[in-house]
Amino acid sequence: MIMLKKLSKPQPSPFAKKTIRDASLTGKTVLLRADYNVPVDADGNVQNDYRISQSLPTIQYLLKQKCKIIICSHLGRPKGKDSALSLKNVAKRLHDLLKKDVQFVDDCVGPKVVTAAKNLKVGDILLLENLRFYEQEKNNDKDFAKQLADLADVFVQDGFGVVHRADASTDAITKMLPSVAGLLLEKEVLAITGAMQNPKRPLMTIVGGAKISDKIEILKVFINRADIVVIGGAMANTFLLADGIAIGESVAEPEDLDLARDILRLAKKEAKKRSFVLYLPQDAVVADEITKTAQTRIVDWDAHVIAAVENYPKQPPSISARVRSHEKILDIGPFSGAFIAGAMQMCNTVIWNGTMGVAEAKGVQGPVGPFAHGTELIIESMMGEFGRRPNSLIGGGDTAAYVAQRGLTDCFDHVSTGGGAGLELMAGHKLPGIEALQNK
Ligand code: 3PG
Ligand code: MG
Repeated sequence: MIMLKKLSKPQPSPFAKKTIRDASLTGKTVLLRADYNVPVDADGNVQNDYRISQSLPTIQYLLKQKCKIIICSHLGRPKGKDSALSLKNVAKRLHDLLKKDVQFVDDCVGPKVVTAAKNLKVGDILLLENLRFYEQEKNNDKDFAKQLADLADVFVQDGFGVVHRADASTDAITKMLPSVAGLLLEKEVLAITGAMQNPKRPLMTIVGGAKISDKIEILKVFINRADIVVIGGAMANTFLLADGIAIGESVAEPEDLDLARDILRLAKKEAKKRSFVLYLPQDAVVADEITKTAQTRIVDWDAHVIAAVENYPKQPPSISARVRSHEKILDIGPFSGAFIAGAMQMCNTVIWNGTMGVAEAKGVQGPVGPFAHGTELIIESMMGEFGRRPNSLIGGGDTAAYVAQRGLTDCFDHVSTGGGAGLELMAGHKLPGIEALQNK
């Protein structure tokens, strides 16, 4: 008797949009919208290519389908043409990563582009210049979209980071060409909605970064869904201020004190209903300035001793209960870091958006600067360095960039290429650039 292996039924994908796998693309000219909005220095050199490398699977799939590929993207928020925000260097990096020629044309519409597109052969890749050099892109302009659409047979949306914008290249264009999702877009949506809708509990969410107003909505969603919500980064300063704690010259948003109080009230209510914790840092690394050699101190709001030893983390920290008027909070302190890392070891899923301090400031030796230790501790705990490795999802441009710059991207289950788009998706919003694609 032949034993048949029991096959599990194929699960319907919760991603409701057609992808490049559902479309017949052989030999077609594809217009691929990517999000190559990568950090660049003053000379336009690419500082971090995570968004570029994450677009490769879709490009490689299209190459296998014998497509001609025209890629478009924005970079930054230019007002008109701005050579510092050219995608020229992105074309070079894409070439290096793909190990394949990438043509570049210094416009995104007009005669030059039409000619370049006409001359494409099967397997050729052409990157267009920054879409936002034309204000029509942000205005969701139909004529501009039509000029893009006329270049191709099919539109593929793979720029996850930009699908929360209704721009000409994310919205108007989809009314003019058959429009399907790329592999990165699908992967992002599945990872993010999966972690939000069906997490293995306990679920910890960590929110950092600067602005409360940017994250107010996601904080409310997290308080409703997560078991522990941690607030860090400059955003925590406004909450501390709302709690009556001195924060010296730290970045904060006094105009958002009411928002902070609302969030604290909401968290208290939630904690009465069920087992829930909102955690605000209990200590901080402070300094007068953000430099490699800045003299740092640890301030612990509950401490009553002032020790003399400085130079954290190379030596035990000096401890004080108060941030002095000329000091800035630049990282969470060691007690907060230990609390978060420890609590994380009891969690099965961690969603993290926003670094805990000025993590991007470089150190005297190597990449870890004086205000990155809180962020590093979170990374280590998430990676399972303390024994248990939770499912991990990292979102947000700066957080993903930090992790990428540390070479640790592969250590997590999902590192999103999206900032705002990821937050909106987590909050349960419908994103215009996804809604516009063909349904399955
Ligand atoms: C991002 O980096 O968040 C995306 O590329 C979108 O850019 P935008 O915020 O300038 O629209
Ligand atoms: Mg942004």
